[in-house]
Amino acid sequence: MAAAWRRPRPLLLLCLLSLAIIRPSASDPNDEACLTQLRASIEDPNNSLKNWTRPNFANPCSGFDSHLQGATCNNGRIYKLSLSNLSLRGSLSPSLSNCTNLQALDLSSNALSGPIPSELKDLVNLAVLNLSSNQLNGPIPAELSMCAYLNVIDLHDNQLTGSIPQQLGLLVRLSAFDVSNNQLSGMIPPSLGNRSGNFPRFNASSFEGNKDLYGYPLEPYKSNGLSVLAIVGIGLGSGLLSLVVSFTAVCIWLRISEQKMAAEEGKISQLMPDY
Ligand SMILES: *[C@@H]1O[C@H](CO)[C@@H](O)[C@H](O)[C@H]1NC(C)=O
Ligand SMILES: *[C@@H]1O[C@H](CO)[C@@H](O)[C@H](O)[C@H]1NC(C)=O
Ligand SMILES: *[C@@H]1O[C@H](CO)[C@@H](O)[C@H](O)[C@H]1NC(C)=O
Ligand SMILES: *[C@@H]1O[C@H](CO)[C@@H](O)[C@H](O)[C@H]1NC(C)=O
Ligand SMILES: *[C@@H]1O[C@H](CO)[C@@H](O)[C@H](O)[C@H]1NC(C)=O
Ligand SMILES: *[C@@H]1O[C@H](CO)[C@@H](O)[C@H](O)[C@H]1NC(C)=O
Ligand SMILES: *[C@@H]1O[C@H](CO)[C@@H](O)[C@H](O)[C@H]1NC(C)=O
Repeated sequence: MAAAWRRPRPLLLLCLLSLAIIRPSASDPNDEACLTQLRASIEDPNNSLKNWTRPNFANPCSGFDSHLQGATCNNGRIYKLSLSNLSLRGSLSPSLSNCTNLQALDLSSNALSGPIPSELKDLVNLAVLNLSSNQLNGPIPAELSMCAYLNVIDLHDNQLTGSIPQQLGLLVRLSAFDVSNNQLSGMIPPSLGNRSGNFPRFNASSFEGNKDLYGYPLEPYKSNGLSVLAIVGIGLGSGLLSLVVSFTAVCIWLRISEQKMAAEEGKISQLMPDY
């Protein structure tokens, strides 16, 4: 058995080779599940997803091309999905994680809503994730840090909440990172905001447009607290107020004691006999 493997018969090799060439494309159950579920979770009001119908999901590839608009193949597997600016609605199916050979996922500039599925962590070959300019909400999944080949994370212009997971700083290949114009809060992890060594650095434009996000390269503290001017104003104001109050108190005290004195004087004058 082992010997046969070491010196494979040329005829068998030829057979295997021709099989691989002749077969138009291997249908992959993972890709089929991925595409079927993705199509089911996405609404396509402009009818842009041409050929995204059930019979094509089982056999989506022909060489590097795909029968499915926006899909690219490699070795009979879906390796790129590029469905940008097609007015797509609906949500991202967690079954996207079944497209395990996916290297680039670009669903930018649509009207997709709902969360970013944490199941994307299973896309271990993913290098590009562009979900920018949609209406995605919920948190940025920390699990994305398990996609070790990620070069690009572009999530700008969505409605994402929560803080930026510091685990994303573990992605050593990251060269583009943009979470601007969301509803993120909390401190920017220094592993992303202030990367050390030779890693590409991300400037404020990657983080701005999030009301409650703080830390380098943005402002160090939450800016919705009291400003210095307000604190000075309150200090001066309360100083002035206490001055007025104590002045008034002194005045009243003086007036009362004056009245008392006058009354006392009255009593004294009453006791005094008339001349
Ligand atoms: C649509 O799919 C069919 C196979 O079902 C294929 O013959 C045709 O070329 C595809 N169209 C495009 C534009 O890829
Ligand atoms: C998006 O699609 C619309 C309509 O097809 C087109 O007018 C517009 O130029 C596209 N935008 C980009 C950035 O491709
Ligand atoms: C989709 O259709 C709407 C109107 O129905 C149009 O405004 C929009 O530009 C279309 N988008 C694309 C990408 O064709
Ligand atoms: C597809 O993904 C779902 C959710 O991640 C999983 O439950 C299912 O087993 C996967 N299907 C295949 C065929 O791998
Ligand atoms: C993501 O897609 C948008 C347009 O759809 C594009 O402008 C942007 O440059 C892409 N992001 C990256 C990092 O390539
Ligand atoms: C950024 O990191 C460097 C060390 O790598 C450190 O000296 C510096 O204080 C940090 N800057 C901020 C604003 O945290
Ligand atoms: C911030 O970085 C981007 C590239 O990531 C660059 O295009 C832009 O000019 C930079 N802005 C500043 C102010 O340095």
